[in-house]
Amino acid sequence: MRAALLYTIISAENKLLLEAAKARGLELERLADAELQLELTEPQTEFDGILQRSSSYARTLYTSFWFEQAGAYVCNPYAAHHLCGDKYLASTLLAKAGIPTPRTYGSFTPESATKSASALAFPLVMKPVFGSWARMVHKINDREALEAELENREEMGHAFQKVYYLQEHIDKPGRDIRAFVVGNECIGAIYRNATEKSGWITNTGRGGTATNCPVTEELNELAVRAAHVFGEGIYGVDMMESGNGLVVHEVNHTTEFRNSIAPTGVDIPGIMIEYFVSRLKR
Ligand SMILES: Nc1ncnc2c1ncn2[C@@H]1O[C@H](COP(=O)(O)OP(=O)(O)O)[C@@H](O)[C@H]1O
Ligand SMILES: [Mg+2]
Repeated sequence: MRAALLYTIISAENKLLLEAAKARGLELERLADAELQLELTEPQTEFDGILQRSSSYARTLYTSFWFEQAGAYVCNPYAAHHLCGDKYLASTLLAKAGIPTPRTYGSFTPESATKSASALAFPLVMKPVFGSWARMVHKINDREALEAELENREEMGHAFQKVYYLQEHIDKPGRDIRAFVVGNECIGAIYRNATEKSGWITNTGRGGTATNCPVTEELNELAVRAAHVFGEGIYGVDMMESGNGLVVHEVNHTTEFRNSIAPTGVDIPGIMIEYFVSRLKR
């Protein structure tokens, strides 16, 4: 069996995954996406398994696709990256699967986006369809702010930035939840608490602090159901506590976890590697 960790940089997460593999006797080779020369007309690889940890969404998509065509098991599979990584597709699929998720509209012109905003009411949240670390996730409080956002995107955006994704704002209690799903189980979860630095965006990369969130029956069931919309794999499921219970607003396909090991006390990289190996052997 030959397996590789496909990466852009050796981040804290990737270092932990390599160490966890070594501790379990798995020879996980390092494959830098920057150095690949993939022959598209002849997809062939000596690898049986690829642990997909690229930090670039474009490279994640194209390398996952190529290695799957070449016959390797890619974790997560291409379809998961494609469907979760695009918020427009992901919201549609989550809702269709009956997962509670914030009401969301998609529009393609400023005029129709303005009508979508009226249907949702202010305040609302606008996000790019591709992106992470909460980049360009904006709370829009009124019509003037919406007009400014739309004008910026029309003037400066590329084609996908002119896809207007508008979402109901959830009045969450100064925190949200990141639940880690590996295979058929939620292995741990954290609250991401708002701080002065983070404001309403509680991503830990934006200054939110992580504390343990108990995995209740309800949380486990919802996190696994949401993850499985995109196929079995390794996911970070983002949820908020709304007035009507938990809602899932995002499922992350290449999840960060460095800040979640200490508060949860869960060996997240170890469990990820064990899952990868078990799937590789199947
Ligand atoms: N509809 C919403 N209502 C309130 N807060 C939100 C909403 N959507 C996102 N947020 C906040 O913004 C953060 C980033 O949004 P998210 O959809 O997870 O995008 P990203 O992919 O950039 O992490 C969330 O973790 C949450 O704290
Ligand atoms: Mg998120």
